[in-house]
Amino acid sequence: MLPTHRPRRNRKSEVIRDMVQETRLTTHDFIYPLFITEGQNQQTPISSMPGIFRFTADRVIDEVGACVELGINAFAPFPNISEVLKDRLARESTNLEGLYLKAVADIKRQFPEVVIMTDVAMDPYSSDGHDGVVDPDSGEILNDASLEILGQMALAQARAGADIIGPSDMMDGRVAWIRRVLDENAFSHVSIMSYTAKYASAFYGPFRDALASAPKRGDKKSYQMNPANKREALRELALDEAEGADMVMIKPALSYLDIIHSVKEHTHLPVTAYNVSGEYAMVKAAAQNGWLDGERTMMEVLTSIKRAGADAILTYFAKEAAAVLRRG
Ligand code: PBG
Repeated sequence: MLPTHRPRRNRKSEVIRDMVQETRLTTHDFIYPLFITEGQNQQTPISSMPGIFRFTADRVIDEVGACVELGINAFAPFPNISEVLKDRLARESTNLEGLYLKAVADIKRQFPEVVIMTDVAMDPYSSDGHDGVVDPDSGEILNDASLEILGQMALAQARAGADIIGPSDMMDGRVAWIRRVLDENAFSHVSIMSYTAKYASAFYGPFRDALASAPKRGDKKSYQMNPANKREALRELALDEAEGADMVMIKPALSYLDIIHSVKEHTHLPVTAYNVSGEYAMVKAAAQNGWLDGERTMMEVLTSIKRAGADAILTYFAKEAAAVLRRG
């Protein structure tokens, strides 16, 4: 018997394929991470992330300008702090005259319309390289002592002009804590995009190289989630919603498409996904070897993350993908 149903009819020409396409990427979907470093008029390549640079604060302005040209209007800056400024309590993280917060204020001054999401976690400023405070005797990560510091960090970022605060630390109760600190200080208009389900992932390797922020001792498994768990992500989601998060995030993205899908089904909040450094590095490395078509793979990866349920994607591919989308 010949087939009655022929799904191929809906694939028979480019126009028809376009007509029935279910997921479409646009530059509005992207949030572009930026690495900021000390110095002047320099951009240094990150070897494990071809095409991604650490920019000095003056040069990051040019980079934001170039991205805005391409239609990218949301950025997630991260600081590369010199070792001498790091301490146990991440004191440099609240310095409004320091590298990071000055750069944030500068970007907002030059481009008031762009959205800046700042990162709340102690690791780039911590001599221990952990997201929370480390007990010097036991090596344990102290949840409640960290909240105080994270709240002050978020407040300083709001003062610098951050539009969205992005707690990436995975301490318990930090969304409620940060919300209260912001509200008590007349920053009720500043949003919180919570890293809701952030997994203890091997895919963060290149990011930690870029910021020299790897833990000096131990790992992050006592606060970041076990990659084997899915229902636990829904528990974190319920807590973040109750604590007042405006948006939720899943991180990493590609090995966690099922988590993105499931979280999307369980919330009315916007869902974002972080297509992390290692996911970027894998595609780039294979493309450099001639093993994959880098551009097609990039677009397929980003489309799959959106198809899984992400409303927005933090991705190192943003600039390159925006150029592809512009070309049409
Ligand atoms: C820090 C932070 C990390 C990333 C974003 N914020 C690293 C980590 O948790 O160790 C990783 C992002 C990436 O790999 O692209 N709290």
